[in-house]
Amino acid sequence: MGGGLLRDPAQVNRILSEMRNAISGLFTVKMRIGFADTSTFEPILDLIDRHRIDLLSLHGRTVKEGYHSVVHYDYIAQAVQRVNCPVLANGNVTSAATTATVLAQTGAAGVMVGRSAIRNPWIFKQIRQYLTHQPLSVPTLADVRHYIDLLYQTTTASTVAERSRVNFLKKYLNFIGQSVDTEGGFLSAMRRAQTETELFGICDRYLLTHPELPFAQEPYPGIIARPSCETERQETSQLEALRT
Ligand SMILES: Cc1cc2nc3c(=O)[nH]c(=O)nc-3n(C[C@H](O)[C@H](O)[C@H](O)COP(=O)(O)O)c2cc1C
Repeated sequence: MGGGLLRDPAQVNRILSEMRNAISGLFTVKMRIGFADTSTFEPILDLIDRHRIDLLSLHGRTVKEGYHSVVHYDYIAQAVQRVNCPVLANGNVTSAATTATVLAQTGAAGVMVGRSAIRNPWIFKQIRQYLTHQPLSVPTLADVRHYIDLLYQTTTASTVAERSRVNFLKKYLNFIGQSVDTEGGFLSAMRRAQTETELFGICDRYLLTHPELPFAQEPYPGIIARPSCETERQETSQLEALRT
């Protein structure tokens, strides 16, 4: 649900009603707990029930709180109690261990993983292993280097300029880099790279000097991914519109 809609439960009611009538299969909703505050949270949860939503994914922050505030898992727990459908807890689920903590704290049916899925695409396997008491797969830095190659291959070399491909890859490295070194050296070096050769040289230096080392499961403390995603930009511009 677009974050701005959270200010207007009457409009949410109309949209959910129209969509429920149009959708014959499962109908899921993803939303935050509010826009600037949580005053519409409970009325909107009641609409989730009224329109027989099949699954609710809930990011436990308001739009105003962006991506870096604490996550209000207590609101997610409240939603679990209040609505009839299963709820997925979302926000800062960074590893298999945090999944277990968040599930215990919220009573949610499952978790939704955002940024950490980009940083560590092995997280889903690790979560399944953790929850079934199996040993966790631990990717190495060499595995991460291979993952970066696969990401780069998704850009089409012949049609996209090198600079654009480099910038595309940097969006992903922004998240991956949180678990590469404790000082954030990889992140600051890769952000300065201009060419493919420079960028891959930096990747090789940080990931292939000791390729056998394990890739950290959590982001290193204090190593922050720059807020650069499109969704965040859209939400920020909605907030700016609200302030003016
Ligand atoms: C690159 C990126 C793209 C996103 N795109 C969407 C989107 O299209 N729709 C949406 O509801 N949320 C989107 N989000 C928000 C995530 O689904 C998620 O709610 C948020 O990142 C918090 O979860 P996390 O702490 O696990 O990242 C996006 C987040 C990122 C980082």
